[in-house]
Amino acid sequence: MTTTPSPHRLRVWDLPTRLFHWLLVLSIVACFVTIKVGGLWMDWHVRFGLLALGLLAFRLVWGLIGGHYSRFVHFLPHPARSLRYLRDKPAIYPGHNPIGAWSVWAMLLVLGFQAVSGLFANDDIFTTGPLAYLSSDWSKTLTGLHKANEAIILALIALHILAIILYRVRGGQKLTSVMISGDARIPADTHLPASTDTWKTRLIALVLAALIGWAVYALTGLAPAGGMDDFM
Ligand code: HEM
Ligand code: HEM
Repeated sequence: MTTTPSPHRLRVWDLPTRLFHWLLVLSIVACFVTIKVGGLWMDWHVRFGLLALGLLAFRLVWGLIGGHYSRFVHFLPHPARSLRYLRDKPAIYPGHNPIGAWSVWAMLLVLGFQAVSGLFANDDIFTTGPLAYLSSDWSKTLTGLHKANEAIILALIALHILAIILYRVRGGQKLTSVMISGDARIPADTHLPASTDTWKTRLIALVLAALIGWAVYALTGLAPAGGMDDFM
């Protein structure tokens, strides 16, 4: 008689990657809410935008030194691998699968551009990104792109959430709980590398986050943007 091996847990997303993801969700939603409310909330738009900037800078480094599945080398966009994935449809694929990898890269790049262009943006009234004073021509161009990017970001987020729902409904994969707990359940006889997620790696992430926080503060003062007086 054969018995199905009971599943065991595989650490996929280390704690720093999970915190990165959920804080990024918070900061992006807050950026949209504050820009729509406007008025005095513009100061909070800038603050949440700077939080997103810091988080994305953190992810850039964590993609080089983080847990196994968080490393960029493990989800580089790759056409041949993507086609093979679509053909074989493996039941178990921890981390970003080759199709998801495209959307993850698109989101990281488009959001990175949004956060950096925000530094140069101004609204011609009283909100000015901390680097807008460097060149008013650049400020005008990047403000235009910062605004145009809104539609692309919304489309990518909609696609992202739709994909997560489809994997759940059609593939029975609970990707969100993996992004919450960090662990995927895989058959006991399947041997795959786990992400290292120890107190030591978490401490390294904390030091890195503190350094990036300090750098963003040094760059911008984290203060509400100055008025047009500073800009002209
Ligand atoms: C503002 C909205 C959101 C943004 C900007 C966003 C962005 C991202 C990014 C950049 C990643 C890649 C993570 C990394 O490798 O660092 C990711 C992955 C993921 N996100 Fe989101 N996300 C959003 C909302 C959500 C929501 C609402 C859910 C679930 C309810 C979700 C579930 C996931 C999951 C499960 C993954 C891992 C996918 C996989 O297994 O390949 N996200 N998200
Ligand atoms: C990834 C994070 C960010 C997101 C998702 C975001 C999103 C947006 C959106 C949707 C708009 C409205 C565009 C429109 O009116 O059509 C906007 C405007 C603006 N953002 Fe951001 N933003 C981010 C980061 C930043 C940062 C870091 C700064 C400054 C440090 C900034 C400064 C501004 C300013 C000044 C405007 C007003 C532009 C105008 O009305 O002419 N943003 N942002």
